[in-house]
Amino acid sequence: MEAIVFGFGNIGKALVKRLNNDGWEIRGIVRRDGGLYDSDGNRTDDFHMNNLRSSLVRGSKTCVAFIAIPSDEGGDIERKYIQGALSAGAFAVTCAKSALSNHHEQLKHSIESGRLGYRATVGGGTHMLPILKKKIGGRKDVAVCVVVNGTLNFLFHSMHHDGDSLGMAIKKAERLRFVEPGATNNLEVINGEMQDTKKKTVIVGNTSLPLPVMLNAAGIQVATLDDNQLARLVRQAAVRRYLVRYYPAGWKVNGEDDDVIGGFTVKMPDGAMIQAGFHRTDLDPVYTDRLPLGANNFAMTIEGPDGEDGIYVVANGPGAGPEATTAAMMADARQMLGL
Ligand SMILES: NC(=O)c1ccc[n+]([C@@H]2O[C@H](COP(=O)([O-])OP(=O)(O)OC[C@H]3O[C@@H](n4cnc5c(N)ncnc54)[C@H](OP(=O)(O)O)[C@@H]3O)[C@@H](O)[C@H]2O)c1
Repeated sequence: MEAIVFGFGNIGKALVKRLNNDGWEIRGIVRRDGGLYDSDGNRTDDFHMNNLRSSLVRGSKTCVAFIAIPSDEGGDIERKYIQGALSAGAFAVTCAKSALSNHHEQLKHSIESGRLGYRATVGGGTHMLPILKKKIGGRKDVAVCVVVNGTLNFLFHSMHHDGDSLGMAIKKAERLRFVEPGATNNLEVINGEMQDTKKKTVIVGNTSLPLPVMLNAAGIQVATLDDNQLARLVRQAAVRRYLVRYYPAGWKVNGEDDDVIGGFTVKMPDGAMIQAGFHRTDLDPVYTDRLPLGANNFAMTIEGPDGEDGIYVVANGPGAGPEATTAAMMADARQMLGL
């Protein structure tokens, strides 16, 4: 098996180590400067997208392009890498979120034909995307609740269970490298993490839910918090969690579900709805005892009218981090190569 790795940061480095351990031949690592590198960090050549086929793949039937570059806003670079690799005959596996959340239409065929692996993009370690898709199986009477951002869950869990202030919880999360860099105060941390949920929700929706329309991250506005809303959230930390809830058309939505702070709502033409934000979790016993601890990602299905066919926690565990993410990417690669 041969690999081309795009990006050599936290994930790229862990991936290269794993590929080497598993006996893959690494054809090259593409970095931001446009250079092609070997696993020891030596620049061996320039990388040119337009000669990907001749310079790297050379007709290999078992070559996988692993994309681990930053999830930049529009996803154009990710998409070009993915499409370039696919058109050169390689498979592609990505953990970056922008291409799939902004260009799903262009990548849909590759996903459906099993040439593009994406499970590492959301809660990778839990494998929630393929699990949800299989569990729902196109049924239109299944509601879904997902925790897509482990950091927000960690912060609210720390405040509730450990009695931390928001500041202490954020410090803890920073020490564990859970927090996206760049924020200068607590409000910016929470608002920044909420932005991350938009792309992830679009990917969950487009790949795993039976939506009547395709979602696009560019069309969704996140309602960011102000200081007063943040103060209210902190006071209610014991009962608030950032959840993404999907209700199929005709689902009886509990009146309490209007009480959501921050996030966003997407209404589908058939009446289905996705509602993301800090929900109350104490008003409905379905949620109270099932929600995940710490930085876990989580997915739950509520099946049949009023849940009469059962409520199932289908994924719960550490979703992100180099280990969980590379494990998910390797699972995609093995599945595509039939290993
Ligand atoms: N970290 C996680 O736990 C996690 C989990 C799931 C998904 N992800 C996603 O995985 C991706 C990578 O995350 P990370 O934590 O590894 O980020 P990172 O540490 O910032 O690494 C990103 C790498 O991408 C390289 N890069 C940037 N632009 C590039 C370009 N145009 N072409 C080639 N390489 C380029 C950078 O190159 P230089 O080193 O040359 O500057 C850097 O090596 C992100 O999209 C992230 O959202 C991360």
